[in-house]
Amino acid sequence: MTRPAPTPFVPFISGTGRTLQNLVRSIESGALNARVCQVVASRECPGIEWARAQGLPAVVRQGVIPRDDLAQLMADSGAKWGVLAGYTRLLDLPDLWQSRFVNIHPALLPSFGGAGWYGDRVHRGVLEAGCKVSGCTVHLCDSTYDTGPILAQRCCPVLDDDTPETLARRVFELECELYPEVLVRLFSGRVSIEAGRARIIPA
Ligand code: GRF
Repeated sequence: MTRPAPTPFVPFISGTGRTLQNLVRSIESGALNARVCQVVASRECPGIEWARAQGLPAVVRQGVIPRDDLAQLMADSGAKWGVLAGYTRLLDLPDLWQSRFVNIHPALLPSFGGAGWYGDRVHRGVLEAGCKVSGCTVHLCDSTYDTGPILAQRCCPVLDDDTPETLARRVFELECELYPEVLVRLFSGRVSIEAGRARIIPA
């Protein structure tokens, strides 16, 4: 049986690019049948340097990308999906791209999400609240921070002697498993949303 064509997607980054690197590893291992067709960074950052070094087409677009520009950028790239990978800017999603952007957040949404909840702040918040579990959430994007329908979550324990750094490491390991797994299902299925609850239905 011939394999379907790889799904083209645009990763959006702002920082180290570890999430992008993990997705590229999943593609190279054959686990994720996809192709990075354009990298968009909100600023010059280690992630975009890495992307350029791999020969991936990469552009910097600072600030909130105007809706029409985002629509043009996605159309020009030939992408089917936008995949946020540590992107810290707000999205202003064109109609055509609603439910076509996905994000991963390093906590169990809806807790510890929204404006200002990113990076180590998230893990510090989890520790200060005394939570006994944390984890990560993959969700569809809307045009606010961290509020779109949830596609999948995975949990890990919070240990008594955790620091934001040790907890961040444990959560990131989960992210490296969960994000490619969800993208495999998403790219080969379709999403149904009923009363805010998202489901991936196999094609
Ligand atoms: C991850 O923790 C992810 O949950 C969040 O951004 C972090 C990855 O950023 N969305 P980066 O890949 O290290 O730049």
